[in-house]
Amino acid sequence: MTQSTRGSATVLVMCAAIGVVTVAATLVWGSGSLVPNRAGAPANSSATEEYGKRLIAQTTELLGPDVADPKMRFTDSRLSCASCHIGAGVEPGNLSLVAAMSKYPRISPRSGGNETIQDRINGCMTRSMNGRALADNSPEMIAMVSYLRFLSDQDAATGAGQRKAHESPAFKTPNRAANLEAGQHVFEQRCAACHQNDGFGLPASRNPVDGYVFPPLWGPNSFNDGAGMHRVLTAARFIKAKMPLGAANLDDDQASDVAAFINSKPRPEMTGLDGDYPDRSKKPVDTSYGPYADSFSSDQHRFGPFAPIEAFYKSLKKPAK
Ligand code: HEC
Ligand code: HEC
Repeated sequence: MTQSTRGSATVLVMCAAIGVVTVAATLVWGSGSLVPNRAGAPANSSATEEYGKRLIAQTTELLGPDVADPKMRFTDSRLSCASCHIGAGVEPGNLSLVAAMSKYPRISPRSGGNETIQDRINGCMTRSMNGRALADNSPEMIAMVSYLRFLSDQDAATGAGQRKAHESPAFKTPNRAANLEAGQHVFEQRCAACHQNDGFGLPASRNPVDGYVFPPLWGPNSFNDGAGMHRVLTAARFIKAKMPLGAANLDDDQASDVAAFINSKPRPEMTGLDGDYPDRSKKPVDTSYGPYADSFSSDQHRFGPFAPIEAFYKSLKKPAK
């Protein structure tokens, strides 16, 4: 049995054992055509694309802090890219990677400069994965980019209809600060069964190199504080669209509250974040770290209410009379 089929079996058992809707397992790990077997390659892919897909689906096993070859230890978290880019990015909707290729190169507000697809991947390597950058010409980067190109080509050929059926649900920013206590309640009722009461996730086996069946939401093995998922609105959109896995049905308030609860917990800290967004007026309102081009408190940037901050930046953009 390969590692990932073992993972699937564990998920099925877990879901049954805890009475969580088994739709989750069926949707993500079932034989449905949307999300092919995590270990299996999409049809007609080359060896390089296949390696790229494995790097995204089984990152901890290939690039994690516990791999045998110290030179291959690129990530400090024990997440996989697919912990957030569900189904190795094949699944449409929030954080899908099917059309990522077509958006790059572009100007990045975060760096203030040109951003290639390799830079964007390294953005997730250093933040979401709390690791270090891969060289553009490394076999691993080349493989991931070929896989993304393959997804994009496949999507251009066939994907439009499928994409439409899976558009993310609309998300409206609640007009109040997130409520951490309400968020904790949502967490206990709807998330802890998989992500565990301590939020540290459920490892796939006793060997940490195997990664997680249910990934950690905070703590040393999760994403760092410079990651997109550490922004409450980004996390809330993802959670509303995808969590609980296979049974996503939270409303905007619940999704924001639980996102804020998760992001109020300790996690790895990234250095140098004050260099992000050289044009500070381009900083997303829910960025958890300063400096800001406004005088709202850092708590308000972390947990809202966001509407007054949005209104402030809107007023700046109005041409002076
Ligand atoms: C903790 C969650 C998380 C993990 C793990 C993660 N990402 Fe991401 N990724 C995001 C978020 C959130 C965004 C969008 C950020 C934003 O909205 O600014 C993103 C964006 C991207 C994009 C750009 C997509 C687009 O359409 O513009 C690529 C490519 C990408 N990630 C690749 C990867 C790869 C490769 C890995 C593993 C090395 C990875 N990500 C791991 C959360 C994650
Ligand atoms: C049925 C089990 C299950 C439940 C319940 C569940 N999740 Fe998840 N969650 C997962 C799995 C599995 C992944 C990784 C995706 C994958 O491997 O396909 C994940 C990924 C995530 C991620 C991104 C990765 C990370 O570790 O940060 C976040 C954030 C998240 N879940 C939040 C939530 C929240 C909030 C809830 C409750 C509202 C929730 N989940 C409920 C199974 C679950």
